[in-house]
Amino acid sequence: MTTMNDSNSDLSFQDKHVLFSRIADDLTKQGYSATEKALPLTLAKQLFEHVSAMSDESFEQAAIGRDSKHTHNKLIRSQKQSWISNNSLTNSSWLMWASELQQYLNQHLFLGLFSFESHYAHYRQGDFYKRHYDSFKGQSSRRLSIVVYLNHDWRADDGGELVLYKDNKDQIGLKIMPSFATVVVFLSDEHPHEVLPAQRDRYSIAGWYSPI
Ligand code: OGA
Ligand code: MN
Repeated sequence: MTTMNDSNSDLSFQDKHVLFSRIADDLTKQGYSATEKALPLTLAKQLFEHVSAMSDESFEQAAIGRDSKHTHNKLIRSQKQSWISNNSLTNSSWLMWASELQQYLNQHLFLGLFSFESHYAHYRQGDFYKRHYDSFKGQSSRRLSIVVYLNHDWRADDGGELVLYKDNKDQIGLKIMPSFATVVVFLSDEHPHEVLPAQRDRYSIAGWYSPI
């Protein structure tokens, strides 16, 4: 497995347009982008405090599929999720940041992104999400996926890596640790991906931009 090259970890993304233009370039060149220490650190801290203070009841068991046949299949995914709305300052700051990225990508890449949905995800020890696509070609929903990570001091033996594959045939993938403020963006119908079993509590936000 390839491991994410961290030669960019000294770059400063104080100016969000530096980050946004890097994401746009990466998407143009390779269809995905993974950057450490990318989310503004104050925002990442607020989001971590928010999600780690949420009660167990505010999370629901993740379901497979987006239609009425929602099945809870713990063989494919086992984490819990909580959809994000504008119901707190912290959530609004996240949605604002996500919307600024959307505007930037629409202006520079003409992706035609229109709506955005996102949820917090909590993986407990042993939780995973098997290889999947976030959307399928020909379906108009979910054009671009984004994941941000909120875990301080993640270590290699904590597991829980995101493995992002270049395409359907790729069996090697790029392994990305779910470290604090890392941001991953990829074209939803081009990159299968999976989450390896986590060995400790793992918090992330996953979001999707759609053209409708
Ligand atoms: C998803 C997903 C990845 C992650 O929720 O669809 O792939 O690292 N999440 O949390
Ligand atoms: Mn996914």
